[in-house]
Parts: sequence; structure tokens; C-alpha cells
Amino acid sequence: MILGIETSCDETAAAVVTQDGAVLANVISSQAEVHAPYGGVVPEVASRRHLDLVVPVIEQALDEAGIGLRDLDAVAVTEGPGLIGALLVGLSAAKAIAFARGLPLVPVDHLHGHLAALYLQPQPLEPPFLALLASGGHTLVLEVTDHRGYRAIGGTLDDAAGEAFDKGARLLGLGYPGGAKLERLAAGGDPAAHAFPTGMSGKPGYDLSFSGLKTALRYALAREPDADHADLAASYQAAIVRSLVERTASAAVETGATTLAVVGGVARNGALRDAFAERCRKLGIRLALVAPELCTDNAAMIASAARYTDPIAFPGYLRRDAYATAS
Ligand code: KG4
Ligand code: ZN
Repeated sequence: MILGIETSCDETAAAVVTQDGAVLANVISSQAEVHAPYGGVVPEVASRRHLDLVVPVIEQALDEAGIGLRDLDAVAVTEGPGLIGALLVGLSAAKAIAFARGLPLVPVDHLHGHLAALYLQPQPLEPPFLALLASGGHTLVLEVTDHRGYRAIGGTLDDAAGEAFDKGARLLGLGYPGGAKLERLAAGGDPAAHAFPTGMSGKPGYDLSFSGLKTALRYALAREPDADHADLAASYQAAIVRSLVERTASAAVETGATTLAVVGGVARNGALRDAFAERCRKLGIRLALVAPELCTDNAAMIASAARYTDPIAFPGYLRRDAYATAS
């Protein structure tokens, strides 16, 4: 049994996953309300909040799984990328447990984690496949040939797709975190009301760009201050979705992929899920999506990735056997 810990940004998360990918517990404590008054994540505030939450969240995960520390076979933790102070809290907790119990410590790449959500039960996906990873920090088109990693063949040149959602939401006065709020507002609007640009459209390769779109929304708001916000949100969301679907679908066709997966926080978006489903059906490509709670940051995906990642050797001064025999 693997304990996973994730504290790279503003979610304090712990999970228990079995070696064959069954999720026994997946606890996520979001700090969204703590950061909302600031309009975004404040790194120092995030670190302090992780400190308060990390132990109770781990205890809750073990409780829900019905196990104790003695039942664990390994401890997995996000080592990056992320906010350095926030990462340190999860890493320190993981090191302490691994050291105290003499367990392997597995450092997990957060992006590999997002992909590894696909390898969990009940329907684990087998590579090879092509993946779009769209989150608040990253937007990448990835070729995945085995469980252990990925190769980026395209990515955003500026903002990540989730960042585009969050910045659009802020311009529309929706506050932070903005992705889900923008989606809710867009549900009542007309996606064809405004002709927002699709970054990098028609250009060779699989890179993406969202900064021009954000500027277009700013200008639209300045030009038409009374424009219906639901229409603006729907048109803005449609432009992000169009761009993600276009670029990823052409990558899938050109690389001959038969399966396409979409992961990361933005993969929670219903319009994006529907648009990918329709495009994949037309192309005869299989689409793999994970449950919404496994799209945004969580620790089950980190524990899952640990199954395909080598543990680290403790530095000498932390070696448990050396410590235990010191008199
Ligand atoms: O993967 P994630 O939890 O964290 C990072 O690794 O960045 O992704 C968070 C991002 C945020 O930008 C958030 O606005 C976006 O995912 N997001 C959404 C939705 N839910 C979360 N974007 C669009 N629609 C949603 N329903
Ligand atoms: Zn993430």
C-alpha cells in the first residue's frame, strides 16, 4: 500500500493506493477560500496552511483506508514542479514518515502524476497514447509510450490553459479560483456571440498560445462595457476549448495515435470534455478521461505514479540503519 502526499500548490492532499492501482482513500483539502481575498495563490500563505493541514489530512486518508502507518509499503510525494515552500511541507512530512517507518521514499514529478491518474482502477489505461495535460501551471501535448514517463511534443508559449480560465474569470469579476466559475457563467451564454481568436491556429507543430485571447477579452470589455457577461464567458471558453481540441487532435492524427487522453484541472471542464468526445468520435480515436476529482490536484495520482518511479536512496546522515546503530 502506497501513501501519496501532494502539496505543490493550494491543495493539501493525501491518498492511499494499492500496488495494482485501487484507490482506498483520496482526501483533498482545498485552500481556495484562504487565497480568494488576494485573487490568487499567495505562496507564503499556502506553505503555512499546508503546515496546519498536512498531518490531519494524512491521518484522515489512513482512517478512510482503514489502515495504519505499519501497513504502508512506500511513501510517495510530489517533488516538483510547484511552489517551493509548499512542496517542502509535503516533502518533509513524507521524509519523516518514510524515515520513521523505514519505508522507501518515492519522489514524484507532478506532471507524471497527472498522467498516472489514468493508470488507476477501475479502468486503467495502457500506453501508448497521446495526452493533453491542461492545468493551472502547464499546458502540454505529450506522447506517452510507457507508464514511466512522457515526451512533450508541444506546449503553451505563454499562459497555461487553466491560467487563461483564471485570468478571464478575474477580468469578468468572478474572483479566484476562476475556472469552474467561468464555466458556470458560460453555461447561460452564447459561445458564438464574440469572435475571440484561436492562438496558433493553422501554424505547424503543436504549440499553443492564450495570451492574445486574454487581451481580446480585455478589449471587448473596454469596448462594450454593457456586453452580456455570460456571452463573453461562453465565447472566451469556446476559444480556449477550440484551441486545445484543434492542436491536440492534429497531433493525434499526425502521430497516428489511436487513443487520446485529457488530464489536468482544465479536464474537469464540461465543454472541453464534450468537444473532445465529439472530435474523437469523428476521427475514430478512443478518448480517455478521468473522473473530475482526479483531474485537479490530488494525491491518488501521485501514489499511482510512484508505482512506476524509482525510490530515492536516503543521504548517509538520514540512513535509518546507520542512525539506529549509533550509540
Ligand atoms: O491541475 P490543477 O488542479 O493544478 C495545477 O497543477 O495547476 O489545475 C488547476 C486549474 C486552475 O487553473 C483552474 O481554474 C482549472 O484548473 N479548472 C478549470 C475547471 N476546474 C478547474 N478550468 C476550467 N473549467 C473547470 N471546470
Ligand atoms: Zn496539477
